[in-house]
Amino acid sequence: MTIQQPLSTAALYNFDELIHEDKVHRLIYTDEGIFRDEMRKIFGAVWVFLAHESQIPENDNFVKSKLGLRPIIVVRDSNGRIRALYNRCTHRGSTVCRQETGKAKSFACPYHGWSFFNTGKLSGVPWPDGYADDFSDTKFNLAQVPRVQSYRGFIFGTLNPDAPSLEDYLGGVKGPLDEWLDRHPGGKVAFCDANRLKFNGNWKLLYDNSCDGYHVIFSHRSLLAMENRQVSGNEADKGMAYYKNSPDTQPMYLKYFGNGHHFKDKRPAVEKRPGGLWAIEGPHPGMENYEAALRERLGEAADAVLDLASSEPVNINIFPNLHILGNHVQVSQPVSLTETDTTWWGTAVIDDDNELHGAVDDVNALRMRTQEGFPNFGELDDLMNFEQIQVGLTAEEDEWVYMHRGLGIPGRLTHDADGHIVAPATDEVFLRETMQEYKRLMKAEPKLVIERNVEAG
Ligand code: FES
Ligand SMILES: [Fe+2]
Repeated sequence: MTIQQPLSTAALYNFDELIHEDKVHRLIYTDEGIFRDEMRKIFGAVWVFLAHESQIPENDNFVKSKLGLRPIIVVRDSNGRIRALYNRCTHRGSTVCRQETGKAKSFACPYHGWSFFNTGKLSGVPWPDGYADDFSDTKFNLAQVPRVQSYRGFIFGTLNPDAPSLEDYLGGVKGPLDEWLDRHPGGKVAFCDANRLKFNGNWKLLYDNSCDGYHVIFSHRSLLAMENRQVSGNEADKGMAYYKNSPDTQPMYLKYFGNGHHFKDKRPAVEKRPGGLWAIEGPHPGMENYEAALRERLGEAADAVLDLASSEPVNINIFPNLHILGNHVQVSQPVSLTETDTTWWGTAVIDDDNELHGAVDDVNALRMRTQEGFPNFGELDDLMNFEQIQVGLTAEEDEWVYMHRGLGIPGRLTHDADGHIVAPATDEVFLRETMQEYKRLMKAEPKLVIERNVEAG
């Protein structure tokens, strides 16, 4: 028997009244009941990014994560299977794993010492003769996410047996994700260290911003100025300079794929030649020395190597919590209605076949410099905006948030060969479409399930 928590206030709302084509109601960012429902209907019912396989490369590796508010251990068990275990002891509920990452064949709960194999199966309890139970009963095994799948190293999980396959869920956004991966040797990257940030705002504010080309020149003015300060002559074209003047007339665009996924492609604004990407890379400490040394060692081959050290000018946004931009992978995790964690993982190149002529360490050092760039100097601009929206939306009588840029202008939207919406870089159509998907999810009643491993541990 499952004892249901009473319906939250979210059930009292008509989401057709809260979400219109051109505007949404402030309550979706400020209501506790709606947040609670989101943790079930979104961060439970759709495929949510949990971890990257490079974080658990060997059997018995684990890394902590979250599925909405649920504490999770993502583990490659002793048999090599990737699982997402609830980090929640079946005795009295404590977290069993308190370490961020590591290697363990089993987890012992620090409270009373119950221990579990990394398959989730209970392995033992202290002084069992004090119990009348049969501990082989599966109810004592750790709960786990029933559906866990990877797409090219990215691990997702869902509690929804009726969700489509992960590949179908990702749909068209696999295209840009494949392209982003395939520019690296072997078509893969490894997560390296991260910038961990937190903001006092609702998680959706970050997602709303993730394909927003309208704010860049205003919100990131100081970063743009810094990136171009040392550039001589009229060639102030570093970093995000392609947003200067009128961004909608530039050869970049955004695309909406369905299921809340979207993509900003700034690559058409970059010269297509070896070294074209490196030419617009913003300044980072020491980059000139690396460049000079690589050019001397590699000659003409240096251009392509330096491009791999440069930030790829794309934003790939996978609903509800995964963003791939530049050389970063940004992951967001709701903490409460008005608090969100966001982690910017750096990514390293793995060069098994020496395609980079022995320069892989130099490339990864330069990529780490880009990791220090936007997350430190740009993301803070964005987080400040999200926090200030949360403050602004406390004004109850002023109800609506508008997202209608581009709406009703004939000929502004087009479709690609697969039927995906294509729009100018500053259009808010990605946000309108995502909100329609959000409304569909919030009106549905998913039946979520957990599993308790029954295989031999
Ligand atoms: S809560 Fe884990 S052993 Fe008691
Ligand atoms: Fe931004």
